[in-house]
Amino acid sequence: MVKELVKNRALLRWVNEVASVCRPDTIVWCEGTDAEYARLTEQLVAQGTLHRLNPAKRPNSFAAFSDPSDTARVENRTFICTTRKQDAGPTNNWVEPGEMRRTLQPLLEGCMRGRTMYVVPFSMGPLGSPLSQIGVQLTDSGYAVANMRIMTRMGQPALDVLGDGDFVKCLHTVGAPLRPGQADVPWPCNATKYIVHFPEERTIVSYGSGYGGNALLGKKCLALRIASWMARDHGWLAEHMVLIGVRAPGGERTYLAAAFPSACGKTNFAMLVPPEPLRRQGWEVTTLGDDIAWIKPGADGRLYAINPETGFFGVAPGTNARTNPNIMATISRNTIFTNTALTADGDVWWEGLTEEAPPGLIDWQGRPYDPASGRPAAHPNARFTAPASQCPSMDPEWENPNGVPLSAFLFGGRRSTTVPLVYQAVNWSFGTYLAATMGSETTAAAEGSVGRVRRDPFAMLPFCGYHMAEYFNHWLQFGRELPDPPRIFGVNWFRKDPDGRYLWPGFGENMRVVRWIVERCRGRAYSVESPIGWMPRYEDLDWDGLEEFTRDRFEQLMSIDREAWARELLSHEELFARLYDRLPKEFIFIRELILSSLWRSPEHWRLAPERA
Ligand code: GTP
Ligand code: SPV
Ligand code: MN
Repeated sequence: MVKELVKNRALLRWVNEVASVCRPDTIVWCEGTDAEYARLTEQLVAQGTLHRLNPAKRPNSFAAFSDPSDTARVENRTFICTTRKQDAGPTNNWVEPGEMRRTLQPLLEGCMRGRTMYVVPFSMGPLGSPLSQIGVQLTDSGYAVANMRIMTRMGQPALDVLGDGDFVKCLHTVGAPLRPGQADVPWPCNATKYIVHFPEERTIVSYGSGYGGNALLGKKCLALRIASWMARDHGWLAEHMVLIGVRAPGGERTYLAAAFPSACGKTNFAMLVPPEPLRRQGWEVTTLGDDIAWIKPGADGRLYAINPETGFFGVAPGTNARTNPNIMATISRNTIFTNTALTADGDVWWEGLTEEAPPGLIDWQGRPYDPASGRPAAHPNARFTAPASQCPSMDPEWENPNGVPLSAFLFGGRRSTTVPLVYQAVNWSFGTYLAATMGSETTAAAEGSVGRVRRDPFAMLPFCGYHMAEYFNHWLQFGRELPDPPRIFGVNWFRKDPDGRYLWPGFGENMRVVRWIVERCRGRAYSVESPIGWMPRYEDLDWDGLEEFTRDRFEQLMSIDREAWARELLSHEELFARLYDRLPKEFIFIRELILSSLWRSPEHWRLAPERA
């Protein structure tokens, strides 16, 4: 790309401005071509940042190993800088914008010395789609550029769409300038980190980290934190959701969006493979996205959703051919692995890929791996970056610029007690309450004890760019304006029996729940009233091939305990008290209504009380 051909004066001005502060040695405008990617990755191999994997095993794929201090998003270093503190809300770290700029200025001065600054124009969403947004990331990390190339529509085409329009300014630096002659390290970063959002100016400044959501600024920073702010202002939704299509026998397709907090199975759900008997009937799940959905009302009053990304940045540990065959095919080539282990024959490995660790592993910190050490070979947050286009289950509509029509929202955390497998909110308001009060266990239950439940409203706690209670209001208002809003469901794949074993087999078997949800949306499935919403009876789910799952076990999985739910509802108060200044008053009444329906139901509510 020739800079002289760039039409956008604001962009040119900003690039010059940043260069004059950060002082890179050179500036490279990214075109987004295959040839450019090949050159860049070759350079990163020469620098020691990337290791080329054995092309016979994993063509055109690389492994990267981060600095041990830079392996995940840093929530306590993430800031929302709005003029007024109350606009960021109590769940975000806030600093006054002027003060933050004064803090960042000395850090940014000369921060790119000895390095190249890449100009990376990118589109979140299909090029030119009315649902898309353009961002430009300036970064001194070649690794970030290579990842952005997989995760976004990057380069000249994005710049063409931008024209002289507006874009989100995304400045990224690893914060590791080089003195003349100073040798570089494979993973430059800085002990000081700032992931800063100025939503009023649609600007992001990320300092000190090269990892994941800290560095690939299109993802959490733009597509969730900045976009949620824009969505609130302009009547749409930016959500931490997977997006799937469900094809019924005969070909009818129903699209669902599901919000699960991190490590609660989004990637698996996005690529769900139905059990064989349901597949034979003609049920199929197709993938549109595994992490983020942007949703706008269409002219027909329905909601239309797109996946703004073009790749998957997924957790490696636990991934294997049984839990997720589609992702295994997706990452077979053209993939960047970060912080996995390396095998003796130049491939990657992580815990759960195979039952036993192969001999001769090098762990994610470059040391020979000793299985007796008790440490994992791959970092628990080891990830792959892979093109969505390589996923065998991609939906034919996944790049449709107008999105796909949504029929339902699912919300689910990791709950070993209390919360049943599936229930349907009676209406949009109750559904918004359900989502707002979603909890998830921070750690798995140990020795029969229960992990700490943290409230993670809409799975957006770390990603909402404004006051969380105002976000609830936005959802309530949004639903009021829809003639036929999507149905809202709660799900929980993680309920356990008193011995600590999962009650529900999960993974592909989740299709049985998805099928009921789809049929509910189509007005074809039966349900009964429970104290917390509508629920399927045993006979309302398809058990073909899972006959060993008994009615008794199902009722255990679906039971509602009054004491437990009373405690659950009380704990919602903690969140509400924190958000009180902007909390929708409906929520107080909804809580009361659920409590009152618990008190007029049996103490241990069962689906078939007459059988008890
Ligand atoms: P992020 O990429 O951080 O958003 O994580 P994710 O939500 O995509 O989670 P992922 O799909 O990587 O799965 C995380 C964990 O959930 C793994 O330990 C899986 O084994 C587990 N898991 C996924 N689906 C199921 C399920 O249906 N049942 C049970 N019990 N565990 C599941
Ligand atoms: C998450 O933490 O929800 C992620 C990983 O998807 S990151 O992109 O690093 O935020
Ligand atoms: Mn995520």
